[in-house]
Amino acid sequence: MTAKDDDADRESVSSVPDDSCACGDASQPTIYRPFWRDSRGRMGRRGYARVLATVGGLAALASLTAPVLGLTRVFERSYTGPVYSDGVALVDSEGDRIAETRLSEGEQLTVFPEPRPGIDRAPTLLVRFPEEEYGGETRMEFTVSGYAAFSKVCTHAGCMVADRDDTTLVCPCHSGRFDPLSGASVTGGPPPRPLPQLPITLSSDGELIATGDFEGHVGPGGE
Ligand code: FES
Repeated sequence: MTAKDDDADRESVSSVPDDSCACGDASQPTIYRPFWRDSRGRMGRRGYARVLATVGGLAALASLTAPVLGLTRVFERSYTGPVYSDGVALVDSEGDRIAETRLSEGEQLTVFPEPRPGIDRAPTLLVRFPEEEYGGETRMEFTVSGYAAFSKVCTHAGCMVADRDDTTLVCPCHSGRFDPLSGASVTGGPPPRPLPQLPITLSSDGELIATGDFEGHVGPGGE
């Protein structure tokens, strides 16, 4: 991956909703990106027929290009085990592991558990801020080098928390707002719970890995 590619892969920090590029955008780097970008929110608007047609097309493509990272695992929809466990590497949408230098302060990136990037609960928001800016409900022992990671699945109705307003993480479906500097606690909208935080650290190779699973239930429901 070139430096240019790397820059392009980082997610923008703006108040402009970014779900407009979730489906049908030829610039998206992998074919499974549509599954983690507000897919459930879009079903209601566009209908299941279109989604099923997309899945059918992806299945056909998968049979031809299985060596592409994670492609055959896109369809792990019934998996109910842990999302992460101790030592599981965080990877980007291309399957590349995340080096400590990957993000600058204020940036964010959607990452996945390396062994199973295609499951429903996999999308994870990785953020980086100056360490001294974290506080409140943040589990500081779950952070490393200014990085914190949270589930990207909204605790209200399961949409992807895909937008950003200054430092606030925003869910585009019903404007749920989460503060990543305070454990992704809810600061607005209908979500009943924070986004669960993922305990992370750096491996001996300087790459981000999990030290366990999310601290709470991922998505709607749970306590
Ligand atoms: S699904 Fe996120 S606010 Fe409703």
